[in-house]
This record gives sequence, C-alpha cells and structure tokens, in this order.
Amino acid sequence: MSATRKKVLAISGSTRKHSSNHSLLTAIAGMTAEKLDIAIFGSIADLPHFDPDRNLENVPAEVANFRHRLADADGVIICTPEYAHGVPGSLKNAIDWTVSSSEFSNKPTVLITASSDGRFGHQALLETLRVIEAKDVDQLQLLIQFIKTKVDASGRITDEQTQAEVKQLMDIFVRCLT
Ligand SMILES: Cc1cc2nc3c(=O)[nH]c(=O)nc-3n(C[C@H](O)[C@H](O)[C@H](O)COP(=O)(O)O)c2cc1C
Repeated sequence: MSATRKKVLAISGSTRKHSSNHSLLTAIAGMTAEKLDIAIFGSIADLPHFDPDRNLENVPAEVANFRHRLADADGVIICTPEYAHGVPGSLKNAIDWTVSSSEFSNKPTVLITASSDGRFGHQALLETLRVIEAKDVDQLQLLIQFIKTKVDASGRITDEQTQAEVKQLMDIFVRCLT
C-alpha cells in the first residue's frame, strides 16, 4: 500500500441502514484504496441541531470531533440522496456547523448526489459548498439518478456507465489532492 495515500473523510447524507449512498461510498473506497485512505464518518445523525450560540464557545463534543475529522482530512467526499427536492436535513445541519469554523475552505470536495432524481438537492448543495469555499467542487460533482438500480448492498457499482463516471471523477479528485 502506498505511503502517500491521501486522507479523505467521506460523509453519507443518508443515515438509512441499507443506504445506497453508503454502498456507493464503500465501492469508492474499494476502487481507490491504492491512492486514498477513505474513512466514512460514523453518523451525522449524532450531531445536535445547529445552534449559533454554541458555534464558537461551549461547542458540543460531537461537533468538535466532526470538525477535527474534517480538518485532519486532505479532501472530502459527500454522497447524498435528495429529500423533497432538497438536501437531507441532517447533512445540511452537519455542514452548517462548519460555516464559521471553515473546515471546507480550500479543501478539495467531491459532491455526488445519488438519488431517484436528485436534480434540485444537487444544485442546492453545490451552491452551499461553493459559498463555504469547498475547493474544486464544480469539477468534482456528479449526479447519479435511479441509484437503487446501480449499486448493490455489498458495495458494488453494477451499472457500467456509472462505474466509468465514478472512476473518472475519482481520477480528477486524486489529481486535485496532489
Ligand atoms: C422523505 C423522502 C423524500 C424523498 N424525496 C426525494 C426527492 O425529492 N427526490 C429524489 O430523487 N428522491 C427522493 N427520495 C428517494 C430517495 O432519493 C431514495 O430513496 C434514495 O435511494 C435514498 O438514498 P439511500 O438509499 O442512500 O438512503 C425521498 C425519500 C424519502 C425517504
């Protein structure tokens, strides 16, 4: 295994047990193992609701840990479904905790929206990531529709075109990290 593997924090916008976004992240971790050390963040659902009064002082421990994991990573991969034409609340909540502390700023960040449709949530989250200065996000974004027909539970991408698109995206991500 290469000693120069870059550290990547992966975040799933779905907290569902058999999430296809989680399966996709598992597939990505497998296909990039030689170059990337990808850790999937435990659960954004454990973060408390964003509270501006605890943003800078008296920061909740779970938030401090999330910020530390982000700060410690060379890059980030977000993989998320769309809910009601928007970004899942738990994912938006997690990102809101990073706005003032700026962990995303200048950090190469991949955005994959993997959903039934996903177009609205994808654009909304892309704009949020731009405004918090996530690096290279415009060239590191991919919308995968009908996701449930394209990954299996064991973390395998079963659709050839999706496999090729994800591989191409990861090749660009690796270049952005070096
Ligand atoms: C409350 C709710 C709302 C949803 N709304 C949308 C939607 O607006 N657009 C869409 O593409 N999919 C929508 N879906 C379907 C999810 O995108 C789909 O179930 C996806 O596979 C969930 O990702 P996961 O498998 O990683 O949990 C919705 C699902 C739920 C539970």
